[in-house]
Amino acid sequence: MTFSAINNDRFSITTPLYYVNDLPHIGSAYTTIAADVIARFNRLQGKPVLMITGTDEHGQKIQRTAEALGRSPQEHCDQVVAGFKSLWDQLNIQYDRFSRTTATRHEAIVNEFFQRVWEQGDIYLGQQQGWYCVSCEEFKEDRDLLDGHRCSIHTNREAEWRDEQNYFFRLSKYQHQLEQLYQEQPEFIQPESRRNEVLSFVNRGLQDFSVSRVNMDWGFPVPVDPNHTLYVWFDALLAYVTALLEPEDEPTLEKALSYWWPISIHLIGKDILRFHAVYWPAMLMSAGLPVSCRVFGHGFLTKDGQKMGKSLGNVIDPVELISRYGSDAVRYYFLKEIEFGRDGDFSELRFVNTLNADLANDLGNLLNRTLKMVQKYCDRNVPSVAGNDIVDSDLLKSKGLILAKEVTQAYEALAFSHACEAIFALVRASNKYIDEQAPWTLYKQGQQATVEQVLYTVLETVRLAAYLLSPIIPNISNAVYRQLGFSVDFNQKEIGAAIAFDDHARWGILPSGQALGDPEPIFRRLDPPAE
Ligand code: MSP
Repeated sequence: MTFSAINNDRFSITTPLYYVNDLPHIGSAYTTIAADVIARFNRLQGKPVLMITGTDEHGQKIQRTAEALGRSPQEHCDQVVAGFKSLWDQLNIQYDRFSRTTATRHEAIVNEFFQRVWEQGDIYLGQQQGWYCVSCEEFKEDRDLLDGHRCSIHTNREAEWRDEQNYFFRLSKYQHQLEQLYQEQPEFIQPESRRNEVLSFVNRGLQDFSVSRVNMDWGFPVPVDPNHTLYVWFDALLAYVTALLEPEDEPTLEKALSYWWPISIHLIGKDILRFHAVYWPAMLMSAGLPVSCRVFGHGFLTKDGQKMGKSLGNVIDPVELISRYGSDAVRYYFLKEIEFGRDGDFSELRFVNTLNADLANDLGNLLNRTLKMVQKYCDRNVPSVAGNDIVDSDLLKSKGLILAKEVTQAYEALAFSHACEAIFALVRASNKYIDEQAPWTLYKQGQQATVEQVLYTVLETVRLAAYLLSPIIPNISNAVYRQLGFSVDFNQKEIGAAIAFDDHARWGILPSGQALGDPEPIFRRLDPPAE
C-alpha cells in the first residue's frame, strides 16, 4: 500500500502554525529559518516551491490571553499576527502562504473534512477525564506530568482536571495502518531518534483522543453539535490544507489538494511530534486522503545551557538579535552551530566568535584580499583563465568538483551544519592555498600565467561557496556575486530560472575577463559582547 503519492517535480514545506498567545520567540524563528533555507535550496534547483507558515489562533490559551489583555480574541490575534509577519520580513523569510486558522474559508475546509471522518464512523461522543495542559492544549498522561500535576514542558503551570463530555476521534482504529506507514515509509519520521520515540509511543497502544471542547467558544462549532467547539489541534492541522488554495479557489478539499498535496515536509519541533506523526496521518487516513511525505522534528534551543523562559528572564528576542547583527548572521549561527535534529545552545560569545571566524575572516577576508591582488597583479577583470585550464588534480578544483554533490545531499537530509562544514572546509583550504602559492612572490618572479591561474582558482572557489551558501546567507552571497561581477539576486524567487543550478553549482564557470566589482568587506567583524 502506498500512503503518500510523492511528487518529485514540486516541493511543499510547512512550518508549524504558531500560537498567537505571545510575540514570536527564537524557537519559532528557528523552525522558520530552517524551512526557508530548504525552500530556497529547492528554488535554487529550479523546482516549483510552496512554503507555508501561519498562525494557530483558536483555543483556550488564546482566549484566556486575550481576556487577560482586555482585547477581543480576534483583535488580539490580528495584533500578534502583524508581529509575526514583520519578524519574517526582517529575517528575510520567503514564505508563499500565511495560513491563519481564523480565515473564513478555513472553516469550509474543516467542515468538509470533519464530515468525511464522521461518515467513516470515526467520531463518537464519550466522557473525557484527565489532566489538561492549556499551554500545550493537550491532555497529559500521568507519566508526562511532574509533581503537583505540572506539565513537563511548561513546568511552571499546573495541568487542569477535566471531566466532561467530548467527541472522540477513533485513533485506535488506525493502529495497524500507522504501523504499516512507519514500516513502509521509514523516512516518514525523521531524524531516527524521533522515529524511535514515535514507534515506542505507538507500540504502547493508541487511545482515541477528544476532538471537541465544552465551555469554550473561541473556535469552530462542531458541525454535528454546535454546543461543542472543535479542538484547536483538529482545526490547526487542517490549516496546512487550506493554505494550498489559490486566492480565487472555492474552498473545497478537492481544490485544495489538487496540486501541492501531499506536503513534502512538515518541519516541527520535537514537542509536537505526536500530533504530526500520529494524529495527523490517522486523520488523513480516516478521510481517505494520502498522508504527507515527511515529518522532521528538530531539537530545542537553550540559552547559555539553560532552558529559556519568561520567568527565568533569559528569553532571546529575535527582533533585537537581528537589529544588532543582521538577518544573515542570525540565520547562519543557528544552522551552522546546531546539528539540526538535536538540542542546541545560544551563547552570545559563541555567536560572535563563529560569525567572525567564518564569515568575516575565512570567507570575507579571502575574497577581499584576492580581489585586491587581482587589482594589483592583473587588471580589474577576472584573469583570462578558463576552468578547464586548471588541472583536475589541483587541490581546490578537485575538491570544488565534488562539493555540490556533498552539499546537495546535506541539504536534502536537512543536515545544515554539515553543508556549512563542507563549504567552509574548502574556504579554509583556499586560504591555505593562497598562502602557500604566494602570488606576490610569483608575481615578483615574473610568473604571470601562474599568478592568474592561482587567483582565478581562488575566486572561482569563493563563488562556488557563496552559491551553495545562498539559501542560508542570501545577502552575503549577493555581495560576493556582485563583487565577482555578476548581477544576480539570490532573494528573487525565480532564482532557479535566472541562473541554472547545473551551471552554477559546478566548479569552473567564472567567465574569464568578467569585470569585477570593487572589493568591499562582505561582513564586518563583530565586537565581543559586553560582560
Ligand atoms: N500551534 C502549535 C502548532 C500547530 S501546527 C498545526 C504550536 N505552536 S507553538 O507556537 O507553541 O510552537 C511552535 C514551534 O516552536 C514548535 O515547533 C516548537 O517546537 C517550537 N519551539 C518552542 N520553543 C522552542 C525552543 N526553545 N527551541 C526550539 N523550538 C521551540 O505548537
